[in-house]
Amino acid sequence: MSELALQAEKLDAADELAALRTRFVLDETVYLDGNSLGALPAVVPDRVADVVRRQWGELRIRSWDESGWWTAPERIGDRIAPLVGAAAGQIVVGDSTSVNVFKALVAAVRMAGEEGADRTEILVDATTFPTDGYIAESAARLTGRTLRAVTPAEVPAALSDRTAAVLLNHVDYRTGRLHDLPGLTAAIHAAGALAVWDLCHSAGALPVGLDEHGVDLAVGCTYKYLNGGPGAPAYLYVRQELQPRFDSPLPGWNSHTDPFGMSPSYTPAPGALRGRVGTPDILSMLALEAALEVWDGVSVAAVRAKSLALTDFFLRCVSAYTEPGRVESVTPGRHEERGSQVALRCADAGEVMKRLISRGVVGDFRHPDVLRFGFTPLYVGFAETERAARILGEELA
Ligand SMILES: Cc1ncc(COP(=O)(O)O)c(C=O)c1O
Repeated sequence: MSELALQAEKLDAADELAALRTRFVLDETVYLDGNSLGALPAVVPDRVADVVRRQWGELRIRSWDESGWWTAPERIGDRIAPLVGAAAGQIVVGDSTSVNVFKALVAAVRMAGEEGADRTEILVDATTFPTDGYIAESAARLTGRTLRAVTPAEVPAALSDRTAAVLLNHVDYRTGRLHDLPGLTAAIHAAGALAVWDLCHSAGALPVGLDEHGVDLAVGCTYKYLNGGPGAPAYLYVRQELQPRFDSPLPGWNSHTDPFGMSPSYTPAPGALRGRVGTPDILSMLALEAALEVWDGVSVAAVRAKSLALTDFFLRCVSAYTEPGRVESVTPGRHEERGSQVALRCADAGEVMKRLISRGVVGDFRHPDVLRFGFTPLYVGFAETERAARILGEELA
């Protein structure tokens, strides 16, 4: 056994989260794509069967009350809240991340406009996942603002008294770079603007601290590190103090203060409920609720510590097993700048990833030349991390 394989055994033996793997349905595949689609939590299939057979099949419409369907968006939001450092009552679950980016950004610009200042500009992360950029462009047109794309590092210098809102990604989806949420949020506030964060690649992988750092609005998906399943509903965080001013651009009947009053005029519900739109996607939502049970008794700090240990170990194994210069890591070496993935650049990345997948190591490829490996600390171990790096080395040779 190689030195690194021996070390992996020791690291697995000392891993306090190792037993959590049994909470998931997994096999011999080394699954390093939980930053795209999290693995299936073992409790989900029976729960979904119960929701379909009993709640829908037998209770039918009574389930809106008796099975808690109606209140699911805020109840599940409160379950996600501690994972992103938020007190209860500030998160609703529903719609896609894209739709929540739209709600959050337009609402942020409307709030900035209330101050009476001439806040004519929206800043968007130039390195963003594309959907955020497309939606920011549309939000700017709808609200009559101009949109400027800048990298997160350029944000402090780009801020001015014209800035209405800034839309940023907490972790870059391609490189795995973790941005300075506390520092950038403080800079945005110092300029009198609002901060909107996309947490897709950080929630469930590292501490976010939404309340602690005074984030105004945030969105995120639940199908990556929260393991909610394909197309699981996203969430929207609206900081408590801002909720009375949150003016949704999608004021559906589900966010009305009296939805069954069927009033022709709209009066928003108090609190985070204002982020709701239409009838919740109950089957996906209750699958997500079951999936979140894997977090019972798990601390995000322990998850973060293991995530850094896994990515450090993977990088060490890759440099031991791969010819120097064959791949270049685009993931920062410094822990403060690293999310929970390792991204390696090489010209033939697409072909290499196909071969890796055929050998049971599943990561993904991002155009044009990036191999992405996501590390979900709840179910990825050190021995399989060593195996993945060894097979990668063989395929690159
Ligand atoms: C940072 C980020 N934002 C948004 C999305 C996608 O949003 P949606 O859930 O609307 O597909 C992704 C998907 O991977 C993402 O990585």
